[in-house]
Formats: sequence, structure tokens, C-alpha cells
Amino acid sequence: MTFLFSSDAQRGAIFADAFAKELPDIPFTMDAATVDPDAVRYLITWTAPEDLARYSKLEILFSIGAGVDQFRFDAVPANVKIVRTVEEGIVRMMQEYVTLAVLALHRNLPGYLAQQRAGEWRDIPQLQAGSRRLGVLGLGQLGQAVLDRLKPFGFPLAGWSRSPRQIEGVTCHHGELGLEEMLAASDILICLLPLTEDTRGFLDADLFAKLPKGAALVHTGRGPQLCQEALVAALDSGHLSAAMIDVTDPEPLPAGHPFWSHQKVILTPHVASVTQPVTAARTVIENIRRHRAGLDPIGLVDRSRGY
Ligand code: NDP
Ligand code: OXD
Repeated sequence: MTFLFSSDAQRGAIFADAFAKELPDIPFTMDAATVDPDAVRYLITWTAPEDLARYSKLEILFSIGAGVDQFRFDAVPANVKIVRTVEEGIVRMMQEYVTLAVLALHRNLPGYLAQQRAGEWRDIPQLQAGSRRLGVLGLGQLGQAVLDRLKPFGFPLAGWSRSPRQIEGVTCHHGELGLEEMLAASDILICLLPLTEDTRGFLDADLFAKLPKGAALVHTGRGPQLCQEALVAALDSGHLSAAMIDVTDPEPLPAGHPFWSHQKVILTPHVASVTQPVTAARTVIENIRRHRAGLDPIGLVDRSRGY
């Protein structure tokens, strides 16, 4: 019974230490070339493994991140559990990033950066937080954590999910009608949806048209959810005021892509959140313990929903 770590060696070394202490009966390896494939019960990876069929006794395929859209579910045998890793490091970093983005957009940072480059000293009218409405697409572990962290600032908070949710201090919407209601009342829209067939291309011209004039976007979901041309058009027409974008399609963007130089876009290279090995190893070990005890791992993916 072996645990195969198929990602960077630096984080792997930290996982190896944690496994040696906490699960000494499970051999740990980072060497896919020499491992006995029939011994591998657990595999953790970020990219989709090409050779999954080698591991005939695999029980859990872990994503080393919170997303699982890199895997083709139909290539993973039905008896293998697909489990994502949402650990305290990922959660904390996403809270930091979205807070940074919301405050930057709320306080007109893209406008001030453009003015600085143009040598202009001029104030831009500033709304108070109580008048800047935030809408979060996706009320899962990250969406809820982000909303929780934003509460003390006093922004009116709303969120949207597939199924109905109740969160204190947050106006919760769901379904198509709920989406329209939330979009119409979102001055800053934050996307924290998983990438599925339903959410591919979701942030498009129609959706932007439903936002109030001057609204801004924070995109930390997945690149293929965003119609990049539609965003540029909405920014250029002035319907949207600015965007902070962490995920793109492709990653990295090609040279010359409008996001590199657009004055209303702040771009970061998919760094909103990064799996932290110490806390992630703890989460994965806990999940193996749960699995061995006959319980579902935390973060077990529902294949029919796609997330
Ligand atoms: P969860 O699975 O916990 O939550 C997903 C949420 O999205 C749920 O509220 C779900 O609704 C909602 N949702 C999914 N599909 C739809 C739909 N079609 N319509 C309406 N709502 C929908 O995910 P997390 O919060 O843990 O993570 C979200 C995503 O964040 C990840 O999948 C990943 O893509 C991205 N991410 C990005 C990172 C970065 O660095 N940029 C880092 C980590 C994650 P319901 O509650 O009804 O199930
Ligand atoms: C993740 C990510 O899904 O880093 O964890 O995007």
C-alpha cells in the first residue's frame, strides 16, 4: 500500500516527513518511475495523470489543489474517489487575495495607477463601503471564507450558489432568477465557481450587461469561465470600470494579449491561493484516516455535479 506524490519535490519532502510521523505503515514515494504500480493506493497530483490505468489498485486520486477540473473524470475508474484539497493555507490565501482585490477596486487603485503613470494628481470620487455592494459567485468553502473575511469592512454582501444556502450577514441567491437579482445589485462581482460544463464561458457579455454600470470584476475561479474579449469590450465601453484577474485561458497569456497592458486590468499569474504543504499534508493524512475508517474524505468530488 503506497502513497505516490506526483508534484514538486520541495512540497513532497514536507509531505514525506508528515507521512513518516503520522502514517508510518504507508510507504511514501515521489518516484513514479520505480514505484510498483500495483502497490499504489493513493496518488496526489496537480496535472491529470496520463497513465492512471497503471495503478490498478488506486483508491483515491487527490488533487493537490482545490480544483479538480484538470482531471478527465471519465478516465478515472468509477471505484476511485476523486478528492480535492481545501486546506487552511489555501483558504487563508484566498481570503487575503480577494480582500486585496476588493479593496483595490473599491478604492479605485487601477484609476490611480493610470493617473500616476500619466503624472496626474487628482482625486476620484470615493464611495463608502456601505454603498459598495459585493456579490460572490460560488458559496462553497472558499466563497464562504472570503465573505466571512470581508464582513468587518461593512460592504453589503451577497452570494450565489446552485442550491439554496443560508449565511448570516449575506443575502443568498440561487438559481437563474437569483443570479439576475444578485448581478443587478453587485458593484464588485467575485467569481469563485468551480470549472464545470455549466460554468465554462459563464462570465460573458450577457452577464456583464446585467451588472450595474461601473461595476468591477474579481476573477479567481478558472480561466475558461471568462470570455476575455467580452471583458475587454465591457471595460472599453465603460460599462465595467476595472477587473482584477488571477486566472486566464491559456496560462500564461500570450505576448500581446490585451490583459498585459490594459489600464483597467490588474493581472496576477494564478497565485491567489497556493497549497501550503504543512497544512495540506495534515488534511490529506486526515482524509486517508477517514477513508480507512469507512468515512468519506473531506472534499470528495461528486462526479455527477462535476465539483
Ligand atoms: P466548492 O466546491 O466548495 O464550492 C463551489 C460553489 O460553487 C458551491 O457553492 C456551488 O453551489 C457553486 N456552484 C457550482 N456550480 C454552480 C452552478 N452551475 N451554478 C451556481 N453555483 C454553482 O469550491 P471551493 O469554494 O473550494 O473552490 C471554488 C473554486 O475556486 C475551485 O474550484 C477553483 O477553481 C478555484 N480556486 C482558485 C484558486 C486560485 O488560486 N485562483 C485557488 C483555489 C481554488 P452549491 O453550494 O449549490 O453546491
Ligand atoms: C487550486 C488552485 O485549485 O491553485 O488550488 O487554483
